[in-house]
Amino acid sequence: MSFRYLGNKTKLSEWIIGEIRRIIPIGSSIADPMCGTASISLALAQAGYSVTAADALAFPVVHARSRLLAKQAPPFKAFGGYDKALDWLRSIPPTEGYFFREFGDAGTPANGRQPRLYFSASNAARIDGIRVSIRDLASSGTISGLEHSILLHNLILATNKVANISGTYGYFLKELSKNAQHPITFESLQFEQTPGSHSVLQGPIEKHASSLCVDAVYLDPPYTKRQYAGNYHILETIAQEDEPVAVGDGGLRPWKEQASDFCYRRFAGKAFRKTLEQLSVPHVFISYSQDGQIHEDELLDILNDFGKVTLHEQSYNRYRSNNKVKEGTLLERLYHIKCY
Ligand SMILES: C[S@@+](CC[C@H](N)C(=O)[O-])C[C@H]1O[C@@H](n2cnc3c(N)ncnc32)[C@H](O)[C@@H]1O
Repeated sequence: MSFRYLGNKTKLSEWIIGEIRRIIPIGSSIADPMCGTASISLALAQAGYSVTAADALAFPVVHARSRLLAKQAPPFKAFGGYDKALDWLRSIPPTEGYFFREFGDAGTPANGRQPRLYFSASNAARIDGIRVSIRDLASSGTISGLEHSILLHNLILATNKVANISGTYGYFLKELSKNAQHPITFESLQFEQTPGSHSVLQGPIEKHASSLCVDAVYLDPPYTKRQYAGNYHILETIAQEDEPVAVGDGGLRPWKEQASDFCYRRFAGKAFRKTLEQLSVPHVFISYSQDGQIHEDELLDILNDFGKVTLHEQSYNRYRSNNKVKEGTLLERLYHIKCY
């Protein structure tokens, strides 16, 4: 399954869950309010925790709903099962709509810019057709909310595989890559029968922190200046099912209102402090990279105000760009705060 995502913790999940398990008994409740791909939410659920996932953006919520809440394939009665729903997705004819115009290599962007090579024209038109069909199905009440999320989740994963980008959607490659020339394909999802009872919320931590009533919170905030809302604008548009103005050469959706304070050197420390002030839980775990905006000493100064802090470290390959591992490894850090 294809999750190209900055800060995706899939490869670190065994280590992170192992550290959490030493402190929080299986069966407890844990929130992952910056869940991204929901890799840690799912790993926690598989380990036997009850998980509340959330994110400021809409597409991580689609991922989390599909990965956590669908413990088996939903009935998809309108089609006669999930496999038939996938066949339906695969058979939807292309439409020359918003994606074709704004993000396809034969498009004519509304602001008069050059075609944006995020997708081949044929894949962009397939995405358009599918978006319209999913939206119609959902608005007519033919599918449930969870079925709706699963179809969008399938579409996002399929889109990631044919996107003509190097890592993020901040900009497109100059020429269509081999992957981008392949027709978009839809793979069947694996559903996980996890034991706990889970929930998924949408919105920033600033909105949820004070009402999280759980045994522990796992925080995985952005640690670089790269804003997720801008760098994943196309996935956000798929999840929001809208057609925003595509701005500038890159065609980004207006994202400033969704900007995260954790990405600004000036505001990140305050954002940590504010979040921790609002949380009222016995344990907080925080993933934060050695490369983060906030230096380790400064972060420790903040965390020490909220409880007894223990630091765990693991070396990790740097973020891949263009399929190359940047030189060297860095330390991924997991802080545990036993709150006062
Ligand atoms: C490092 S990623 C999380 C990666 C995730 N653990 C995974 O394995 O995929 C950071 C996430 O925080 C989200 N985010 C940024 N600021 C936020 C905020 N104020 N409240 C909630 N989520 C936020 C981003 O949208 C992004 O999905």
